[in-house]
Amino acid sequence: MRLLGYAEVFRPEESSVSHTLYKNLIGGHMVASHTGKTFLNINPANSDDVIGEFQASGAKDIDDAVAAAAEAYKTWRLVPAPKRAEILYRCGELLAERKESYAREMTREMGKVLSETRGDVQEAIDTAYYMAGEGRRLFGQTTPSELKSKFAMSVRMPVGVVGMIAPWNFPMAIPSWKLFPALVCGNTCVIKPAEDTPLSTYNLVECLTEAGLPPGVVNIVTGFGPDAGAPLVAHPGVRAISFTGSSEVGRIVGQTAAANFKPCSLEMGGKNAMIVLEDANLDLAIEGALWGAFGTTGQRCTATSRIILHKKIAAEFTKKLVARVDALKVGDGLDEHTQMGPQVNQQQIETSIRYCEIAQKEGAKLLTGGSVLEDGSYDKGHFFAPTVFGGVKPKMRIAQEEVFGPVVSLIEVESFEEALEAANGIQYGLSTALYSKDVNKAFQAMRDLEAGITYINAPTIGAEVHLPFGGVKQTGNGHREGGTGALDFYTTWKAVYVDYSDTLQRAQIDNAD
Ligand code: UN1
Repeated sequence: MRLLGYAEVFRPEESSVSHTLYKNLIGGHMVASHTGKTFLNINPANSDDVIGEFQASGAKDIDDAVAAAAEAYKTWRLVPAPKRAEILYRCGELLAERKESYAREMTREMGKVLSETRGDVQEAIDTAYYMAGEGRRLFGQTTPSELKSKFAMSVRMPVGVVGMIAPWNFPMAIPSWKLFPALVCGNTCVIKPAEDTPLSTYNLVECLTEAGLPPGVVNIVTGFGPDAGAPLVAHPGVRAISFTGSSEVGRIVGQTAAANFKPCSLEMGGKNAMIVLEDANLDLAIEGALWGAFGTTGQRCTATSRIILHKKIAAEFTKKLVARVDALKVGDGLDEHTQMGPQVNQQQIETSIRYCEIAQKEGAKLLTGGSVLEDGSYDKGHFFAPTVFGGVKPKMRIAQEEVFGPVVSLIEVESFEEALEAANGIQYGLSTALYSKDVNKAFQAMRDLEAGITYINAPTIGAEVHLPFGGVKQTGNGHREGGTGALDFYTTWKAVYVDYSDTLQRAQIDNAD
């Protein structure tokens, strides 16, 4: 049994196997879904390992959760921000104490290797401490009034009940990017975690609750997008939506929110390029490529999925990279020796298979990988071989569309200008990287790469929580997570004027002469 009664051991009568049963968290209570349906959360490295049984919720559950959040909002918004922040700080401390056990549970629920799931929990800890600091800032502005004896200022106000839809690839970090700024700003929340990774959200909220978060301030409703996510987005009581996921689903979320004039932060796909120029430190670039392309089994929005190589170093880079990829140890992420874990589910494996077929049909050359790993210890998991395609042309589908798997494309170019053109010639604009020692080119890349994030001499992954995270073009709709951009999303500005002249003063009229 876990703390706070978040879960109970469930023994289906007809089975001798016992699962942990999780119910929705609504208004501080664990409640079963009105649908009466549940789903299993299964380890992608080992189908015998059931992590838990979760509620397959529907619209009525969302109604209940929104009502609980609306009730809690009445008092939470009045708690002074520094006090709200103290809860976040304590939550960060609890996460730090439990980092190892939460990381292990995360590896079991979504597959990435332990060193990375530790990093994921760490990212939530960092966000907790960073946003706790904001409790004593949340700055607005004071500004002179054009009229005498009149005071003018702008203050940040909470938005109200916020709906959040989180992805499975950073199952604790990304919910923390959403929940912690929303909470410090005085909002209450209904979060729907991804169906592949609900446990990490329970773990995060377990710490928040123990840190002193009042009931109803954060509500968890688990389930699938069409049944639970869609009614959350459409709910009239939800004042803003934060979504991270595919551009395809993001478009539906954005359109639904727009119909109700609801602010909506969309964080979506990427097809992130790393440019390696002729003067680059090649060994460093290869380390970066391995980490950027195969970290999280390539399942990051920021994953390095295109490597654009200057022709002078292309052959050497390719040979060395393929040798390193061939030596990668793929397996269960709980094994400390594993370098790349499984993909999260069968659907992701099928996407990888499909894109490998597409790439070969288009004329790309399969240099290594390209297939499902099924033998021996792989037989109970969703494993795909780390894959490299050579001879890729910038307009091929494999170089344009997001795979979200361990598949990287090598594109050869003749100049820096051609590299920039290839890097920018896609619909997405999340992350980019340049490997070069030429400071002029580095600054040119910072200026000219069309992306929300640019790294110099580092791969396309590795964002830190106090900087803005997000992208341009079809990657996002202009909002940012992380940094102060998150505060901009989770607050609304109020302009306040205080006239202490004891006379009627008319702006634009009485001071016009
Ligand atoms: C993602 O790419 O899906 O920047 C999120 C990183 C992590 C977050 C990645 N801090 O690599």
